[in-house]
Amino acid sequence: MTYPHLPETPPLELEDIGSNPQPQNTLSELVVRRLSRRAALRGIGGAAAVATLADQLLASGGEALAQGVARSSVPETGGPSTLGFKELSHQMAQRDAVAEGYEIQTLLRWGDPILPDAPAFDPTKVTAESQAQQFGYNNDYLDFFPLPRGSRNGEHGLLAVNHEYTNTNLMFPGIGSGSAARLRTSAEQARAEIAAHGMAVVEIRKQNGQWSYVQDGAMNRRITGETPMRVSGPAAGNDRLKTNADPTGTRVLGTLNNCAGGNTPWGTVITCEENFNQYFGGEAAEKGPQAAAYKRYGITKDATYAWGRYVDRFDLDKEPNEPNRFGWIVEYDPYDPNAVPVKRTALGRVKHEGCTHAISADGRVVFYMGDDERFDYVYKFVTARPWNPNDPAANRDLLDEGTLYVAQLHDDGRVLWLPLVHGTGPLTAENGFASQGDVLIETRRAADLLKATPMDRPEDVETNPVNGRVYVILTNNTSRKSEQVNRANPRAANAHGHIVEIIPPGAGTGKVDHAATEAKWDIFLLAGKPGVDAGARYHRATSDQGWLSCPDNCAFDSKGRIWISTDGSPSAAGVADGLYAADTSGDGRALTKLFYQAPIGAEVCGPCFTPDDETIFLAIQHPGENSGSSFENPSTRWPDFQEGMPPRPAVIAIVKKGGGKIGA
Ligand code: FEO
Ligand code: CA
Ligand code: CA
Ligand code: CA
Repeated sequence: MTYPHLPETPPLELEDIGSNPQPQNTLSELVVRRLSRRAALRGIGGAAAVATLADQLLASGGEALAQGVARSSVPETGGPSTLGFKELSHQMAQRDAVAEGYEIQTLLRWGDPILPDAPAFDPTKVTAESQAQQFGYNNDYLDFFPLPRGSRNGEHGLLAVNHEYTNTNLMFPGIGSGSAARLRTSAEQARAEIAAHGMAVVEIRKQNGQWSYVQDGAMNRRITGETPMRVSGPAAGNDRLKTNADPTGTRVLGTLNNCAGGNTPWGTVITCEENFNQYFGGEAAEKGPQAAAYKRYGITKDATYAWGRYVDRFDLDKEPNEPNRFGWIVEYDPYDPNAVPVKRTALGRVKHEGCTHAISADGRVVFYMGDDERFDYVYKFVTARPWNPNDPAANRDLLDEGTLYVAQLHDDGRVLWLPLVHGTGPLTAENGFASQGDVLIETRRAADLLKATPMDRPEDVETNPVNGRVYVILTNNTSRKSEQVNRANPRAANAHGHIVEIIPPGAGTGKVDHAATEAKWDIFLLAGKPGVDAGARYHRATSDQGWLSCPDNCAFDSKGRIWISTDGSPSAAGVADGLYAADTSGDGRALTKLFYQAPIGAEVCGPCFTPDDETIFLAIQHPGENSGSSFENPSTRWPDFQEGMPPRPAVIAIVKKGGGKIGA
């Protein structure tokens, strides 16, 4: 079978432009430092001699050095995986596929009516009004909140979903192909796109082994790019958050580019604003007083979407502060359809991929976050107080008080968590930070000044509930040069990504000190095809089907095994994105196996287990996002495969035929 639109260009999602001007802590610096020490001990003089030695090491690609000294504990001997499924073969096809013995059920598709009066989906009549009542576009983060609240029911609950962005070329007839279609929208189409962004909460149920959604669920809701939200925390009311429409700097319309997310121990949703930059444009991007700050966040005079032509707040020349109101962590209660979502500024303003929590030994709650950009950083937020399981009111604003830290990964295996606190170190008025609010609005610049470690695009950062280690998913960074490699980012031109483990004090003991300011790190795997892609490293028994590329999101089953979804697998190798699983400890550590493969053009997002491990939900995002693909002539019509119906981003549920735990 041939496919009309094999991908020729990178995905349309603009998330990796790389706007950190001075990545710190390069390998050459590390090598020079180390060699300088050695040279001093041996009495070798002269910086030039040291630099030559460093060059010789780097000439070997840095890779050899990294391999030689990295403390990776990927086992060298084989051993059986505990995962009891027969892995799929890599494929690139119009249809998706799952391991034998499992079943894919389509649960929610773009346009499905999810509110009682919503119109049925008609792909030729996509309006703002219909979209605001239907399932939105490009589902990413997924989370399952059992019903009744507080139970561990695995068959009935609320599914919270992000709608990250729109593939305009696949949404509207007659608009052509490519990402430039976004600049060809009418005012009405732009309004429909804004309504297709945001989030959804939908009641879902499994009956007789089959999942379906409840259209008139009492808690169903859509949150869009226009839903009123509150701003809280240290940046609320800051002058740089004030606009004509909101002179208080505390009320925002909507949330945008919600990528991954997380939840809280008190049962709320955490959703993350990622590539918000692309909605804003205007001359002020280059000339205004905030030009440098815009640049650090990738805001340019040319927006990727046409919205600014029709809606003033997306035009920087009319509302220069509007972009400062995006890039935040947003919290809402999925069980209350009237809850006003809150932008929690204490957790910083970056291109947030995800935000997942771990409860530290003393009851304080720690939220781990990645800033998804080449050479950007890993963060954590530690609440000022422990959470209170018995008093929901006491937790309501717990995310407004605490300390934000950024990670520095040292070549000796230590992680230092550096506090982003106004008045400490370089975070002072002298450097343009008049308050903690200023530090948070320019979180990236503050972290630059602290010399955080630039990483290879941090996506999900998530804690394994069994071993207490924190998994940092680094998707790729083809811009890293050989002189910029370090031990935690050991490959130049890293096309395939890798996964780093952070090991807090007490990990594995049940009393993990996630709040500590020092931890250790290790490499879990280096992605790519073993034997073909330099430095690719897994368990030695990983098969020719089990290798992966561009890890993005992850989830853990109750045995502590990691399930990794990918975004950007190499089409040239005939590999679509997928979901892979591996043990994290024992003889099968890092032995990845392919469980599910997505349709052509799609990435796999939001892996989420029900509490009984009997279902895994996946968000299949941007099916058909290939060069040349259009509404009329898409590269796939997944999941409906009906003539005239474009591909539809959709949430699927995977269950074991006849019941049972996934991967048991
Ligand atoms: Fe929206 Fe970092 O992926
Ligand atoms: Ca995505
Ligand atoms: Ca992602
Ligand atoms: Ca991604």
